[in-house]
Formats: sequence, structure tokens, C-alpha cells
Amino acid sequence: MFEINNIIFLKIYQFSIEFLIIRVEYQQVPLNVYHEKNCNMPAGIDDLAIYVPKLYLDYKDFAQARGIDPQKLEHGIGIKKMALVDTNQDAACMASNACLELMKKNNLHPDDIGRLYVATESSIDESKALNSFVVGMLEQVYGDSSFEHAGGIECKFACVSGSYAIYDNTNWIRAEENNDKAAIVVVTDIAKYDVGSAGEYTQGAGAVALLIKEEPRLLALDPKVTSTIIKNEYDFYRPFGKETPLVNGLYSNLLYLIQVRKAFDSYKEKAMRTGLIHLKDGESITDYIDLFTVHLPYRRMGEKALAYLLRHEWRTLPRWQHVIKEIGFDEPVPNDSRGTIESTLADKEFMKADEQFRKAFMQTSFYNEVYEQKMASSLEASNIIGNLYTASMYMGFRSLLECEFKKHHDIEGCRVGFGSYGSGSSAMVFSGVIQQSYKEIVKNMNLEEEIGFRKRLSMDEYQILRENERNLNESYARAKNEFILVKIGGSTADKAGFREYCYCN
Ligand code: CAA
Repeated sequence: MFEINNIIFLKIYQFSIEFLIIRVEYQQVPLNVYHEKNCNMPAGIDDLAIYVPKLYLDYKDFAQARGIDPQKLEHGIGIKKMALVDTNQDAACMASNACLELMKKNNLHPDDIGRLYVATESSIDESKALNSFVVGMLEQVYGDSSFEHAGGIECKFACVSGSYAIYDNTNWIRAEENNDKAAIVVVTDIAKYDVGSAGEYTQGAGAVALLIKEEPRLLALDPKVTSTIIKNEYDFYRPFGKETPLVNGLYSNLLYLIQVRKAFDSYKEKAMRTGLIHLKDGESITDYIDLFTVHLPYRRMGEKALAYLLRHEWRTLPRWQHVIKEIGFDEPVPNDSRGTIESTLADKEFMKADEQFRKAFMQTSFYNEVYEQKMASSLEASNIIGNLYTASMYMGFRSLLECEFKKHHDIEGCRVGFGSYGSGSSAMVFSGVIQQSYKEIVKNMNLEEEIGFRKRLSMDEYQILRENERNLNESYARAKNEFILVKIGGSTADKAGFREYCYCN
């Protein structure tokens, strides 16, 4: 958005390219070419399973209680139901529930698993890793020490850490260190903000467990193109002992966009250098990504991230003049040429003009065509669950698979581009190709059914939950076929902080 060089270049270019054809032919890299050229052993996501807690807040109740227009929540943010954890649940229970579901549906035994990683920013202990709690719970079902042979850690980097965990475990398999075993990566989080804050309507909770294997049935990750970016930032953070994060909302939104775009630039360079994607004149790398799924703190943020990326990628291409023609006014240029986030945010005149332009761009047929074809399906789940931090992008991927299947779109061989973001801050961009046998798995997906019955909490009940006024054993929903937290702290001093879980039949 802020590259002045690109904008000047565009102005010169605009006059000479008026009548160039702007639509490019869809080009998909055939699967066999992909395998031969780039990877001897495809590895990636074989299957996934979800857990969403049984309580939710309805956006209309929330809007009324906080004096907000419900239209703002439904359309401006993109939330209808926010999932909430019960008194007897935490990130470890949710992770274990998702993991157990994944193992059951794939008839997996602990012997099949070589690594169990958990990525979260809702940790329950400063030292003891969350995956150790998950192992403890799973061993209640599979037997004492049944996971002893495996390894794994808890990973933290706000919402991006799950992507690092998947990348590392995929490489563990590619390096053939896995001894024929698979890895499970569980992303699990509780997004919780201060009562009355602007973040409060972007809450949610849930977990996704992903089975990482060679010859995966769902998605083979593209090798040698994964790209990351990292910088010390304070856009969103939660100091020790604090239950809710400190957030600079506007700053975090802009930082998300910029960091993902920078990681995408690096992805693009690698994709071209490795021959994964060959760009011809007038083409954009976004033409070669068939489906997008990005970090989703809320649905609208996904839509904005796509707009930001397309503007960045298309600005210097012949098609841009057609976009501008449809919009009817030029893209604004920052008054301040430093191009830092601070200088951009301080440039109020530019920010206002840029917001106007962004909104107009999102109304164009150009944006909407890409949005409908490549992103809309990934945003559906976010509407009825909310922010899941580490799990939000993977719930988006799950949503994409199910919705595309229900639309009768055959996505075999399609390339999915992932834009993962974690505050603090780091972004990771990577891609993968949907595999031949994906329908085997996707045909059985049904989000509403898998979530099951949920209790709609009143705002009074929510308030009580937020003030921790109910004990562990005073849950609102009745647990069935799932792990719950039954006790914190043992009876003796040497058991202080112990957490006890049990499986409820
Ligand atoms: N009808 C329809 N739409 C309306 C409306 C109405 N009556 N009133 C307002 N809106 C629209 C606004 O026009 C705006 O739309 P655009 O985004 O298209 O401009 C949208 O509703 C949001 O409204 P505001 O701009 O007034 O924003 P807000 O003050 O409500 O704050 C927020 C939004 C910054 C996201 C805030 O909820 C927040 O701080 N959330 C937590 C931080 C966050 O999620 N950051 C995202 C990036 S960081 C990250 O991704 C990590 C992570 O998971 C947290």
C-alpha cells in the first residue's frame, strides 16, 4: 500500500497499457509435476478434528447489553455466536478433546504417533508444557505410559505458533526422522478480552487437532517456499499474571496486514526461484493461488487482509487501471514518505482517504470475484465461533474444505495459500496442494453437527462466568464424552497447582 515507487511506476505505466488483456488463464501445477519436481516425499495435513465448547453468546444479546448496533457485529466485525469455555474447561481440555476425536476417527493408537505438539497462547503453567497435560488425559483412555515413546513441546508465539509447529513437524517427516510415525499438532485457545473493551466482541474458544503425515490425504505442503517475518512489537500482549491481553486495536490490524504482506513477498520470491510458480507478463502470484485462508481474529479481518494483499500485488499490473476505472478515483499516496506504521497511522488525512479507497476496492467486481471464489468459504466458521487465536486459521481451513464441498466445487489439485499472523509479532506464509483423496475426509464434515448442542448464555450468566463466581463443578453445560477439569491444587502443599482432569462418559 505504501510503496511510493510502485505508485509512480503505475502512473507512468497506466497510459501505455490501456487495452491489455487483464484476465489470466487459470494455471494449475499438475500433481505429478509437483511431486517429481519439488518433493520426493509429500508431507502435510492428513486429517483434522475440532472441539468447540458448548456455551455461546449471541451477538444480539451482546449488542443490546453493550449498546452497540447489532449490524456492526454482524457485518462490521462478522460475528453471530461467540464460543465460551465453561467453568470446568481450559485450553488443555479442549486440546485433548480435539486430539481424542482425531485419533478415534482415524483408528490411531498412541504407537502411531511420534510427536504431540500443542500450540497455544492460553497456557496454564509457566513451566509445565500444555501437551504434557494432554498426554495425561489421553492416557486415561489409551492406558498408562501409552505415549511414553513420543515427544513434543508447547509452542508459543501468539496466533502464529501452530503454523511453526506444523512446519517443524512436516520437516521432521521430510527428514525421515519420524520412524514411520505421524505427528499431531493441536492448536487450542481461549480468546478473552476485558469486559466492555472493543476486543470483547472478538472473543471465542476452541481447538483443532491436525494429523501430520507423509502422503497426506488432505493437503501436501509445498516445500522450500514457507516464509516468515519477525519483529519485536507490542501490538497485542499479555504480561504474566494477567488474564486478558493489552491490545492496540488499530495498530494490531495494520501490523497484521503489513507483516503478512512482507512474508508473502518472500514467499513469492521463493515460489518463483524454486520454479513452483512461473509468472508471465501481467500476471499476479495471486492468480496461482486457488484458495486463501488467513488468520481470523474476526471474519471482517480476513476480508480486509485479502483486499490489502490484492492491492499490493495488482498495483503495478495492467489490470489495476481497470480497477481504478471501476472505483472512480485514484489510490491515495501517504503524505509522509517514511512508510513506518507510526508515521502512517499519524497521517490522518491519508488514513481516511485510504479507508475510503479500501472500502471502494472491496466493492469492485475484481475484488468480489476473487473473494467469492477463493476466500469466502474459509470465513464461515468464524461467524459462529469467533476468534480462536492459534486455532482460527485452521478452523478457517476446515471451513473452506467443508463449504467448497457443499458448493460442489472440486478442489483436488488446488493450491491453498495460508497467511498466518501472531502478534508480537511474526507472520508465516506457506502453501499446499489439495490431494486426490481429500473427498474421503471432507464428505463427512458437518460443522454444526460436530459442534453439537450449545447453550445460549444470557448476559447475566456471562457476567457471572467472567467474574469467576462459579466453581469448577458448577458448569452451565453437562459434559458428555469429553475431558473436563475437576480440581486445581492438591490437598497437600507439594501438590499446589496440580490440575486434575477426567473423562466424562
Ligand atoms: N453497521 C455496520 N458496520 C459498522 C457499524 C454499523 N452500525 N458501525 C461500525 N461498523 C463497521 C466499521 O465501519 C468497521 O468496518 P471496516 O473494518 O470495514 O472499516 C468495523 O465495523 C469495525 O468498527 P471500528 O472500526 O469502529 O472498530 P472497533 O473500534 O469496533 O474495533 C477491533 C475493532 C480493532 C478489531 C477491536 O475489536 C479489537 O481491538 N480487537 C482485538 C484486536 C484484534 O483482533 N486485532 C486484529 C489484528 S491482531 C491479531 O490478529 C491477533 C489476534 O488474534 C488478536
